[in-house]
Amino acid sequence: MVKTVLQKKSISCNNKIVRRLTVKITEFANGGYGVGKVDGKTAFVRFALPDETVEAEVVKEKKDFIIAEAKEIKEPSTHRIEPKCPHYYHCGGCDLQHAEYSYQLALKKEVFLNTIKRLSNLEPENGTDIEPSVKQWSYRKRVQFKCRNGRWGFYKKSSNQFVEISECPVADGLINEYIKNNRCKAGEVEIDDYGNINSDEMILNLGLKHPLFYKKGAFTQVNREVNLKIIDDLKREVNALNPNNIVEFFCGIGNFTIPLALEGYNILAVEFDIKAVSSLKRNIGNFNLKNISVLRANLFEQFKIKGHFDLAILDPPREGAKNVAQKLLRKNINNIIYISCDPATLSRDMKILSKKYTLVKSKLYDMFPQTHHIESMNILKLNKE
Ligand SMILES: C[S@@+](CC[C@H](N)C(=O)[O-])C[C@H]1O[C@@H](n2cnc3c(N)ncnc32)[C@H](O)[C@@H]1O
Repeated sequence: MVKTVLQKKSISCNNKIVRRLTVKITEFANGGYGVGKVDGKTAFVRFALPDETVEAEVVKEKKDFIIAEAKEIKEPSTHRIEPKCPHYYHCGGCDLQHAEYSYQLALKKEVFLNTIKRLSNLEPENGTDIEPSVKQWSYRKRVQFKCRNGRWGFYKKSSNQFVEISECPVADGLINEYIKNNRCKAGEVEIDDYGNINSDEMILNLGLKHPLFYKKGAFTQVNREVNLKIIDDLKREVNALNPNNIVEFFCGIGNFTIPLALEGYNILAVEFDIKAVSSLKRNIGNFNLKNISVLRANLFEQFKIKGHFDLAILDPPREGAKNVAQKLLRKNINNIIYISCDPATLSRDMKILSKKYTLVKSKLYDMFPQTHHIESMNILKLNKE
C-alpha cells in the first residue's frame, strides 16, 4: 500500500498556508512533471504521475502556467510505488522514485518522442528503443553534495535550502561509506573503477588493453554499465557506416575516441577542458595511437576545423551544441551521431540540422535511473540533393 500523504502542509515565511490546488494529471513532461489544467492554466506538478488526481502546493504561478508540488495523492496511479530514499521528497536530486522502474522507462520514451516532435518536428524513421540500466540503484560514480558545518546534504529543488542526508541510494556503496565516515569539506565525491576516491589521478576501465587515466575534475560518464553499452552500440553504428575520417566534438578524456581509434578510424578529437585534453593526450600516448589528432577549442565560440570528414560525432553537455550544429550544416558531412543528455537542447540543434538531415533512429539509454534525465544516441543522415 503506497502512502498518499507525501508531505505535511507548508507554511510560508509570513505564516500563511501556501495555496493548494486539486489537479487531474493527464500527461508527463520533460523535467519530470505530471501535467494537468487548472483554471485554463497548464500546471506542472512535481511528484505526480499521469492518471492521478493530486492535491498540490503552488511553488510558482505565472500568467499561463503553474509550477506545483504534489502533497497528497487523491487517486494514485497503478504504477506508483513507495520511494526507497528517506530524503526523497525533500532533497532536490531524484524525481522519479515514486514510479515503478518499467514505468519510468515508458515515461522517458514518451517524453523524449513528444519533445523532439514538438520542438524539432522530427520523428526517428526507424523507431526508438530504450536500454534499461543494469543497476537501478548504487549506479552513480560521482555525486555533487553540498556541505554545511561538515554535514552532507543537497539543496531542495530550485532553492538553496540545505537538506541534510544520511545516505544517497543512487550513489555507489563506496560513496555512501565515505560520507558516513568523513566530514563534508568539498562537496564532490567521485570513485573510479578501482575504488580510488577523490584521488588526483583516476582510472577508467573500458575493458581495453590499457585503462584510461583522467585528472579528477575532467568529465566521465556517471553510470559505468550504461557507458559500456553506449560504447558498444556506437562502435556498431560507426562500423556500419565505415567512415574514412571522423570528427568528434566534446570528446572529453577519450571515452569514445580511444575505442573507435582502436577499430582503425582516423579521428580529429575536439575538447576545451584543459584537464580532459591533457588526460586524452596521455591516453593516446599509452595506447601508442597515431590515428587521433587533438584540437583544443571552445565549441561555444567560433572555431575552425580543417579537413574532410564523412562522420561527425558529438556528445555535448546539457547546454547542447547550437554553434556546432550551425557549423555542421555548412560542412555537408554524410552522417552525424549526436549523443545527448537533454532532449530539449537536442531538439533545438536537430531542428537546425533538419534543413539538410533526416533523423534515421534514436536509441535511449537509462543512464540516470530514479530521475527524469534521458540519454540518447541519434543517427542523422545527409539528404541527397
Ligand atoms: C557530456 S561530456 C562528453 C565527454 C565524452 N564524450 C565522454 O563520453 O566522456 C561533454 C564534454 O564537453 C566538454 N565541453 C564543455 N564545454 C565545452 C566547450 N565550450 N567547448 C568544448 N568542449 C566543451 C566537457 O569538458 C566534456 O568533456
